[in-house]
Amino acid sequence: MTKIKYQHFSEQLEVLKEKNNFRTLKKIKADGKYIFHEEKKLLNCSSNDYLGIADDKNLLMEFYQSLGNEMYFPYSSNSSRLLSGNNEEYDKIETLLASQYAREACLLFNSGYHANTGIIPAICDRNTLIIADRFVHASILDGIKISNARYLRYNHLDYEHLEKLITEHGDHYRQILVISESVFSMDGDNADLRELILLKKKYSFYLYIDEAHAVGVSGNKGLGLCEEQNSINDIDFIVGTFGKAYSSVGAYLICDKLIKDFLINKSRTLIYTTALPPLNLKWTHFIAKKMESFSDKRNSLMRLSIYFKNELKNTGFDVRGNSQIIPVIIGANKKCIEISEFFENNGYYVPAVKPPTVPEGTARLRFSLQASFDKHDIDDIIILLKS
Ligand SMILES: Cc1ncc(COP(=O)(O)O)c(C=O)c1O
Repeated sequence: MTKIKYQHFSEQLEVLKEKNNFRTLKKIKADGKYIFHEEKKLLNCSSNDYLGIADDKNLLMEFYQSLGNEMYFPYSSNSSRLLSGNNEEYDKIETLLASQYAREACLLFNSGYHANTGIIPAICDRNTLIIADRFVHASILDGIKISNARYLRYNHLDYEHLEKLITEHGDHYRQILVISESVFSMDGDNADLRELILLKKKYSFYLYIDEAHAVGVSGNKGLGLCEEQNSINDIDFIVGTFGKAYSSVGAYLICDKLIKDFLINKSRTLIYTTALPPLNLKWTHFIAKKMESFSDKRNSLMRLSIYFKNELKNTGFDVRGNSQIIPVIIGANKKCIEISEFFENNGYYVPAVKPPTVPEGTARLRFSLQASFDKHDIDDIIILLKS
């Protein structure tokens, strides 16, 4: 039988196109809160630069000046952290973050994806039951898949369902790991960490919280929802990322010292990958030292988010969540793409988020706001949405 080369792949791409779900990479040039795309200047409503610091010229200048004689800082670590890549900046950041959280230890990873796919398989085995919120991020799901653990999902934010699953299945396993995001990336709503901690105390499971969209944004010091909900000491695994509000790259785990030692020995995404570039680590350290002082940015981001949500609700939109991530659920992929294009033609970059990133039939415009937006930006978005 003659086979056409790549036929299996091209057939799958055709299916995606038929479902209006074919992804492409766009050519984009960022400029502060705007991006340039196909010669159009668009307000970037899809960036996770929540504090609006990625392109803050004053901050960048201060950073370059802080490098002083170290201007010629390498762009690569050229080796794993376990070999010669463990640049001294790692220790500085890990010590700083552990002290900010007042916890024993912090361990850096190359990204949130590396963290979730490296920590979960390392700490779970076939005697582990993982129970995760139905809406957790793909990187968590991939971490779960790589582990040999049994996996169950509880309905989104439904802690009665979680408790039911624990009582029905928990007894058969040596340990239970419950996983949730704190601020959910596609819905912008929050986990109730206090409620999860009450359950943890009742059933003695380990609690793993991904704070990717909360660090830098929530809490007086920007430590995340765990700071805001006063739960730092009760969460076994707190994961934060640097690629969003920190405007850098990488991720961190806040944990006990023993877990840090364990992961240095067992986590494959830490061991078998080149360490982060020293220049990036320098920038991360620079931002981490300043994070507490960004409370004005945090406050104005919250004010804008509340204003936007109230205006949307008053206009009759189905709005979820209570964070800077504000999804407007459209439903069908095609309609969502059309509205996204309409926004683009009017100066706004709001990509359509479609399945499998979100459940089938819930394609949405995901507005992620930045502290550098102003009220006029929001008012114009509302006018466009109304029309
Ligand atoms: C909840 C969550 N965890 C982890 C990640 C992955 O983080 P990173 O982009 O650093 O790989 C993301 C990214 O969008 C996320 O939303």
